[in-house]
Amino acid sequence: MNRDKLLSICLPLREAFIRNHYDTDTLLDALGPEVHAALSRNEPVPVRRASTRCGELGTLIRLFLLTDDCPADEVAAALAPLSVEDAVAAGLLDADGDIVRAALDLRPMDIGGGNRWVVSDLDGSFRPRETSVDHVIGVGHASLSLLLATPTAPVGTLLDVGTGCGIQALHGASYAAAVTATDINVRAVDLAAVSAALNEEEVELLVGSWFDPIQGRTFDQIVANPPFVVSRPRVGHTYRDSGLDLDGSSKLMISRVADHLAPGGIAALLASWIHVAGEDWRSRVASWLPAHGIDAWVVQRDRADPELYVGTWMRDGDLDIHDPASAAIAGDWLDHLASANVEGVGFGFVYLRRTDAPTDLMAEDLTHGFSDPLGAEALAYFDRVQWLREHDVLTARFRVEESTALERVFLPGDNGWNQVVARLHRGSGPAWQHEVDDLLASLVAGMGSGSLGLGELIELLAAAHDVDAEALAQTAVPLVHSLVRHGLVLPAEPA
Ligand SMILES: C[S@@+](CC[C@H](N)C(=O)[O-])C[C@H]1O[C@@H](n2cnc3c(N)ncnc32)[C@H](O)[C@@H]1O
Repeated sequence: MNRDKLLSICLPLREAFIRNHYDTDTLLDALGPEVHAALSRNEPVPVRRASTRCGELGTLIRLFLLTDDCPADEVAAALAPLSVEDAVAAGLLDADGDIVRAALDLRPMDIGGGNRWVVSDLDGSFRPRETSVDHVIGVGHASLSLLLATPTAPVGTLLDVGTGCGIQALHGASYAAAVTATDINVRAVDLAAVSAALNEEEVELLVGSWFDPIQGRTFDQIVANPPFVVSRPRVGHTYRDSGLDLDGSSKLMISRVADHLAPGGIAALLASWIHVAGEDWRSRVASWLPAHGIDAWVVQRDRADPELYVGTWMRDGDLDIHDPASAAIAGDWLDHLASANVEGVGFGFVYLRRTDAPTDLMAEDLTHGFSDPLGAEALAYFDRVQWLREHDVLTARFRVEESTALERVFLPGDNGWNQVVARLHRGSGPAWQHEVDDLLASLVAGMGSGSLGLGELIELLAAAHDVDAEALAQTAVPLVHSLVRHGLVLPAEPA
């Protein structure tokens, strides 16, 4: 692969792709949903059959998506005005006589805001191949989950740490005025440069470890899908191993990213953390944050026991656990986790906002399903936390968020239905739920139009139900704080 030569062929390659409609919408239309689904499942036969009806687009499908051996004259027609010779010289294609095949993975993707072409190394989906240490991974589940969970409000400057094929940087280019991307892997930076050029996006690309290439600089937004695999401190593959022990890469990112956030700047990171016997994972993550200057929202999306965790990553590395050498790796890995008292590995999103106040952390499980994008919620969450910091809830007025409902669950009993639980349920965002008793449910109902302050409502309710107002305030105030953080109840006046 030759970066300069690859960059020099981007213009004619883009022209060929545009002429043949090598884009996500056309692929879906041309293949049809069933065959397109077969492509996602890495089943080549239906795709190959359907591609024969697609003319030159079909050639591109077989060449880049199935990594088939293709006749050079067919490829020449599909890639014109780019010549096969130039594509081979740049390292995009390999040639063997009259047969050519893809040497890189090059596929259209819809990452919000229209079609993009992304270049990465080929994986073994359709043709067995070795994964080199500097393998540049394509867009996977983790990449897409971060993409969907990233705030996309317009910002000035954006940094993508560990850019790989450049997918987060390309996404950033749709909402940031200036994008910088870094990677320790030179090959990744080269391919990210090609991804950017193919999409006519300007990205500042820098080689180096973590924040070294941008020392002394700050950004309005930072995104990172770092190599967060929890294992021994060694690098098997740069795309997944940081060389730091256990959850050291997440600790490094979370503890150092704040230094590079401009005032009010946001970070959206993927991270993992170990669950150690006798330690709360929340305290572990909290210990990575500076004491001052950060609002942090950490959501744990999943937790795996060591066996499941190691097995999953063994499969990701195409290691057959029935092979004795692979079994030894798995055993060594499990021993290492056991020696550190690791009972599980948590995984999720970390959102940070730079403030000038003492650090505020909310770390919580978010393992239930929801469909709204988390990025917008993170921005709203930070606004609500700031509002709480600046206001006394007892004198404030509130309203119930439009999608919040009160649910009551009844179970059959000897004398009919018995209410076993009542909870407030937000129908939007992360679909949070909070259990409430009848008195607190009435308090929230009383917020109604937002005409009375919380303190006044508590006084009225206490008098009506003959309970002590101060005692009621002691349970109501923390509940209202939690309901505001989770967006079930909002300040009546704009935040
Ligand atoms: C999981 S991949 C993510 C790639 C891409 N950002 C995405 O979302 O698909 C992690 C990336 O971090 C890079 N990386 C590994 N160690 C690094 C380090 N010390 N500093 C910067 N980048 C590093 C790898 O080369 C790889 O490209």
